[in-house]
Amino acid sequence: MKNAFLTASLLLLTTAGSGVKAEDEWTLPTAEPRLKEGAGVEVATTSCVLCHSVDYVTTQPPLSRDQWKTIVTKMQQKFGAPLNAEKIDPLLDYLAKNYGK
Ligand code: HEC
Repeated sequence: MKNAFLTASLLLLTTAGSGVKAEDEWTLPTAEPRLKEGAGVEVATTSCVLCHSVDYVTTQPPLSRDQWKTIVTKMQQKFGAPLNAEKIDPLLDYLAKNYGK
């Protein structure tokens, strides 16, 4: 009975295909990782997730402030992350505190 119902539903879906809107069929995953809240998080949110997902930050092993500085400098100078000089210290404080050793 259940199978018959499923088959009928599937038939209906395939025949009525164009009537089904894409946004009705899919739900976005909710388990998207986020940066931890804290002082400086807005700098990270605006500067560090433009090119890659936040996983690049959150899945690193705990890094010292100096190690974060090396990474942030690389992002800025090699890849062109938009970071004014005055944003770097708050960002490094944030990264070292929340994703540090
Ligand atoms: C302009 C684009 C861009 C922005 C903005 C950017 N990144 Fe990246 N990031 C990259 C690219 C490209 C890679 C991959 C580099 C590689 O494979 O070595 C990367 C890789 C990383 C990695 C992996 C480790 C590594 O050294 O490759 C970390 C951690 C990281 N980014 C952190 C950050 C942080 C923190 C910020 C904010 C300051 C940031 N990224 C902003 C482009 C960017």
